[in-house]
Amino acid sequence: MSGDIREIEECQLKDPMDLFHSGQVVKICAPMVRYSKLAFRTLVRKYSCDLCYTPMIVAADFVRSAKARDSEFTTNKGDHPLIVQFAAKEAQVLCDAARIVCPFADGIDLNCGCPQRIHEDLKRTVDLCQKAEAAGVSWITVHGRSIEERHQPVHYDAIKIIKQSMSIPVVANGDIKTLKDAENVHHLTEADGIMVARGLLANPAMFAGYEETPFQCIQDWVDIALEHGTPFTCFHHHLMYMMERITSKQEKKVFNVLSSTSAVLDYLNDRYGVW
Ligand SMILES: Cc1cc2nc3c(=O)[nH]c(=O)nc-3n(C[C@H](O)[C@H](O)[C@H](O)COP(=O)(O)O)c2cc1C
Repeated sequence: MSGDIREIEECQLKDPMDLFHSGQVVKICAPMVRYSKLAFRTLVRKYSCDLCYTPMIVAADFVRSAKARDSEFTTNKGDHPLIVQFAAKEAQVLCDAARIVCPFADGIDLNCGCPQRIHEDLKRTVDLCQKAEAAGVSWITVHGRSIEERHQPVHYDAIKIIKQSMSIPVVANGDIKTLKDAENVHHLTEADGIMVARGLLANPAMFAGYEETPFQCIQDWVDIALEHGTPFTCFHHHLMYMMERITSKQEKKVFNVLSSTSAVLDYLNDRYGVW
């Protein structure tokens, strides 16, 4: 577990339920293995993201190994509200992992979804969600696809039925690419929150209403990533995602094969004249 310990000691944990009680739809950055790390969370928070998830962390490794803790979880004072997502097979292991991160996190999420999401028999999904509610979870996130459905349209109607069957907040997820999509999905599902993964990779400023990644956001990513010592592959991958919609095929051929931070900075300098 890393980060500046003095900063962490000063960190003010925030109750994410306050967001759900605010009456506004909560805008959430999804858990993304390799991607929703501290530097990226810092970036999306700058652009109107209300709540962030860590990538999925395997609870058993996290409990067992200090090395896993150091590489899997980094946070700082500004990184709130923050939900840490674990994958765990045993309740005790989840509990032990949660205990380790709880001084630094505002909530714990259990990944129940990959790759199964809604069940084809919706009653079984509603039943599972109601059991989770009875067990005391604070909210539930639903990706509106079944295990077989990879590219088919998301069943927002199913999310609406789940929402109507629950008393706790429900968060809708799936295929939300713009703020307008988020508003539509909120309208269709009546969900209390909207969670986005790929849409934020492609445009980390989408919650602030930008239709495509603004130049300022690219500049912010470079500054934040370098400040955080982000490994080159992660730094570069994020830029490839962010610039996907705003670069030509020809430009991608050049940009995507760059192999060092200095080469990326030179490229950006030539293109934008800033670095
Ligand atoms: C690169 C990537 C990594 C992901 N990692 C996780 C993860 O760690 N935990 C998880 O529950 N879901 C993970 N997901 C699934 C997303 O959180 C989300 O449910 C899915 O991508 C659908 O949302 P979207 O249409 O906004 O992308 C990942 C998705 C992507 C694209």
